[in-house]
Amino acid sequence: MNAKQLAGEKAVEHVKDGMLLGLGTGSTVYWSILKLGDLVKKGLNIKGVPTSTNTEKLAINLGIPLVSLSSINQLDLTIDGADEANRNFELIKGGGGALLREKMVASISRRFITVIDDTKMVTDLGEFPLPVEIIQFGWELTLKQVSELGSKPKLRMDNNAPFITDNGNYILDCYFGKIQDANGLKNTLNMIPGVVENGLFVNMADTIIIGNKNGSVSTLY
Ligand code: A5P
Repeated sequence: MNAKQLAGEKAVEHVKDGMLLGLGTGSTVYWSILKLGDLVKKGLNIKGVPTSTNTEKLAINLGIPLVSLSSINQLDLTIDGADEANRNFELIKGGGGALLREKMVASISRRFITVIDDTKMVTDLGEFPLPVEIIQFGWELTLKQVSELGSKPKLRMDNNAPFITDNGNYILDCYFGKIQDANGLKNTLNMIPGVVENGLFVNMADTIIIGNKNGSVSTLY
């Protein structure tokens, strides 16, 4: 079993019958969703809110019942991956481009479990370029404003065309170097008018499940 699978499957042990779940996006939480699909076939009663069209398709294929975010006030638990995590439980997310829906879902979750492999646990966030979702209108101006905060932003591309999120927006991948004040940077970025949301998740994760190369799993609370 690879490290992502170990972490992804372990997180499902926290799922209880009757829960409303946020279903994250990416290749680690994929394993959680697969496992949930198995359990649903065996009678587990849960409902999920997907954080991307990819996760929505996967969940539908597996027979996991879904509800829309608008129809609920709170989720019991969200399981989602991350691109980097530190010991303060601060995360960089959005490598797959789903950060906006992921953050909306995480924001109404009573518990948020992050599933990662051991390469993603870092002392300082920032080696992974921070994804920032921006609107298409005037994107060059927004890029300039983000770069004035001390980063080197690059417009994310997909086959020679700009990558488009599920929400019809662009992504800037921004290299800031070591991020010392994740909360401050998160708030400052979101004050730029063309920025929709950024991939810094602060005060959201309460559990980090790490799949290790040696086959063990560590859980941080
Ligand atoms: C999706 O936009 C991301 O936030 C993912 O959760 C993150 O990139 C982790 O993905 P992997 O588990 O595929 O590495």
